[in-house]
Amino acid sequence: MPAIMIVGAQWGDEGKGKATDLLGGRVDFVVKPNGGNNAGHTVVVGGEKYELKLLPAGILSPNAVPIIGNGCVINLEALFQEIDGLKARGADTSKLRVSANAHLVAPYHQVLDKVTERFLGKRAIGTTGRGIGPAYMDKVARLGIRVQDVFDASILRQKVEGSLQQKNELLVKVYNRRAISIDEVVEYFLGFADRLRPLMVDSTSVLNTALDEGKVVLMEGGQATFLDVDHGTYPFVTSSNPTAGGASVGSGIGPTRISRTVGIIKAYTTRVGAGPFPTELFDEMGECLQKTGGEFGVNTGRPRRCGWYDAVLARQASRVNGFTDYFLTKLDVLTGIERIPVCVAYDVDGVRQDEMPMTQTEFHHAKPIFEYFAGWTEDITGARTLTDLPRNAQLYVQALESMSGTRISAIGVGPDRDQTIVIHDLISG
Ligand code: GDP
Ligand code: IMO
Ligand code: MG
Repeated sequence: MPAIMIVGAQWGDEGKGKATDLLGGRVDFVVKPNGGNNAGHTVVVGGEKYELKLLPAGILSPNAVPIIGNGCVINLEALFQEIDGLKARGADTSKLRVSANAHLVAPYHQVLDKVTERFLGKRAIGTTGRGIGPAYMDKVARLGIRVQDVFDASILRQKVEGSLQQKNELLVKVYNRRAISIDEVVEYFLGFADRLRPLMVDSTSVLNTALDEGKVVLMEGGQATFLDVDHGTYPFVTSSNPTAGGASVGSGIGPTRISRTVGIIKAYTTRVGAGPFPTELFDEMGECLQKTGGEFGVNTGRPRRCGWYDAVLARQASRVNGFTDYFLTKLDVLTGIERIPVCVAYDVDGVRQDEMPMTQTEFHHAKPIFEYFAGWTEDITGARTLTDLPRNAQLYVQALESMSGTRISAIGVGPDRDQTIVIHDLISG
């Protein structure tokens, strides 16, 4: 049986939480392969809203085992706060497991995230301030602390020492901050040992054994394609690989075991934080999308920048992820717009480019070339089949499909699980 992957196709917040929830009842495991508590995945169950940050949204699917994979970075304080918050609302969190190889976000990572952003000034990335970048920096620099290290006090101390030595120099001499105490950091981590121990597993082994036994595994990607450190709009990206290849690495599930790679894509585009965004709107239309779509960050509360659907990005996302399906979300938000622009190509310094420009400078100069589609005014939130949609909404979806490089297999017409049109089953096809 297969592994199925959910990947954000734009700059995040496409509705990955909703997609996970939609499939959650039919899968045995949900693994989060990348990111940490920089994510914010919303699930609306029977009118009740849940916002998951570090935990996979799959934790709300009662029969699925939720796993935080090896590719994640975990802030333990945030982890247990989130678990307690869900428990208080009656959710069962007892099945949650955490990879022994996942890295930990240390208090000094958060400090560094904030000071580097301040230091960057106008060039700041607009990070979530959760220490995600510095934690991944340490991982790649081989200075990271992993979940398993919490259970070996002497190794833990050595690693914290090794990691802090250089950072304290930096904090004191460059950033003019106080040095961070090694003892305090070690104590901080050890303080979570008792609660963490029963959660720790060899997640790669658990997931591959499950697949051997015919179980279904859903990989719930965090962030999105254009926030990918390799394929995104670098340097305005996150520090992990939210694309399909990264999900394979971040969960230890080999590419040949993945049968479906589902791109989650909004019927328009949003972005939080800094960085280029060719179809961005700066007028009341942008405010209208923001308001109607409820486009405010789950994690930081920041308003999301809004713009039109960008088919150049969609084609690029199809390519770098090898999508088998698109789940087009938030189509209902476009109801009432008379004429809907869709970006079909870019004008880069007077030259038409149909595909993603090669360099960052060109992408910064890219101006959208639009095609326009007639809108609809009917309420579509009750539509459950394609033919329930007004003719113009059907034409809009057809046009996006023909431009975006991947078939559209599901359409979101509202935040609730059942406000979905399924054209092709996302698990069995
Ligand atoms: P994620 O990070 O990809 O999981 O997305 P977020 O949860 O950050 O943001 C998506 C928002 O859109 C959430 O508030 C969802 O409840 C909401 N949402 C998801 N799908 C739809 C849809 O089809 N229509 C509408 N109106 N809202 C949706
Ligand atoms: P979900 O999973 C939208 C953005 C931040 C910033 C950049 C780097 O909910 O789609 P970081 O704190 O990761 O170093 O910030 O990435 N970002 C997201 N934007 N949705 C997310 O997650 C995001 N996670 C990070 O706003 O621009
Ligand atoms: Mg989100």
